[in-house]
Amino acid sequence: MRISTKMNAAINAQIGMELASSNQYLNTAAYFAGRALRKLAEFFFKQSDEEREHALRLIRYLNDMDGTVEIPAIGAARSSFDSAEEAIQLAYDSEVKITASINALMEQAIEERDFATQEMLRWFVNEQVEEVSTMDDMLKIARQVGERNIIMVEAYLVHEEV
Ligand SMILES: [Fe+2]
Ligand SMILES: [Fe+2]
Repeated sequence: MRISTKMNAAINAQIGMELASSNQYLNTAAYFAGRALRKLAEFFFKQSDEEREHALRLIRYLNDMDGTVEIPAIGAARSSFDSAEEAIQLAYDSEVKITASINALMEQAIEERDFATQEMLRWFVNEQVEEVSTMDDMLKIARQVGERNIIMVEAYLVHEEV
């Protein structure tokens, strides 16, 4: 194994977070599909795929470094929301939390002078800037149109091709 045991464990925990996030976005997508908000559903299905890709990227890295993949238990996703805004707020909060987790991993990699893991994580640092910004925009739009006019978000998504 060419990374520390501590780093290996931290990456496994991150894999769990990415998969939990993938599951949550699936459930959020289904919630929007249930409200016939197809573009919002499509947006979250796509986000879910991306989160799974993030988990795969970390799994591949552990394999490359001769580490051990141990996917942790993943809690149930949330399935009901009072409003679209609440569902999007959960996604935004989750992206902020994942960003903090990636930053903590990077801090550990720097501390350990683990340059390979730092390079691998740099992609995630950049990706999180994008992810938080996208969810922040979605949240701003949802707040501006309000629950009554949430259908307007569909038009926004068609126009923006998010
Ligand atoms: Fe992610
Ligand atoms: Fe994400």
